[in-house]
Amino acid sequence: MSQAGTITSKSTLDTLNNHVSIRRYTNQDIDQSLLEALLNAARRSPTSSNMQTYSLVVVRDPEKKAKLAEYANNQRQVAECPVFVALVADTFRIQAAAELHGSSVAQNLENSLTSIIDAALVGMSLSTAAESVGLGTVMIGAMRNHPAEVAELLNLPHGAFVVYGLCLGWPDEEQIPPQKPRLPADAVIHYESYDDGDMVAKLQQHDDELAAHYESLGRNQHSAAWTGVVADKYSNPRRPFLREVLTKLGMNFE
Ligand SMILES: Cc1cc2nc3c(=O)[nH]c(=O)nc-3n(C[C@H](O)[C@H](O)[C@H](O)COP(=O)(O)O)c2cc1C
Repeated sequence: MSQAGTITSKSTLDTLNNHVSIRRYTNQDIDQSLLEALLNAARRSPTSSNMQTYSLVVVRDPEKKAKLAEYANNQRQVAECPVFVALVADTFRIQAAAELHGSSVAQNLENSLTSIIDAALVGMSLSTAAESVGLGTVMIGAMRNHPAEVAELLNLPHGAFVVYGLCLGWPDEEQIPPQKPRLPADAVIHYESYDDGDMVAKLQQHDDELAAHYESLGRNQHSAAWTGVVADKYSNPRRPFLREVLTKLGMNFE
């Protein structure tokens, strides 16, 4: 464990290989100096054309976290983590920069995409940095359940929205789950060209491995643990309101 002053961290490979999302935390807070070290490391992430079209909103206030948890379908880790960081796709600042020169940014889908990528990358860096010092993290895409309400709560400017959130906290050692299996390497890693051969067999292999994982946790699961969930979850458009709401928040998808 690391706190202020004595930051010790695992290697990047160890950190990534040991990743598991952590949703239960001890009551211990995260020192501001450690948090700043992590945030500043994450800020070194590459960004598209150096435009840095992201912002981070750090939330410690219990009432605000409780509200964010409510917006995220009452996910208790959002309220219980000592620090919640909102990863914001932020095209507001480049607009302000252009206006300094009497210009304006021709916002379009490309700008929106790059800001989403910038926010995602900086959040991944923050997560990896945090895990390298022993913190537990989980990303919260459910911030997009209520993008307008979340934007208002965090006082986001026009042209910005929360892509996802990141819960940070010291893991409750008794509630660290085993690592979740991944798709077979050859289903996702291709050399020189995409090879979709045996895809069905690979997906079924993943179904079996994931089913065994859930079974070891005593959890009820779909008979086809991965493909079945995909089939159920994606048969209807997910968050169909997003384009309209995000457009109102000033994002452009044209
Ligand atoms: C963009 C994104 C959004 C996510 N949203 C949530 C979420 O809202 N709630 C949650 O508990 N986990 C969320 N997760 C965590 C995933 O469920 C988790 O990474 C995945 O099941 C694999 O498990 P692992 O991270 O433990 O290996 C999210 C992950 C990502 C990358």
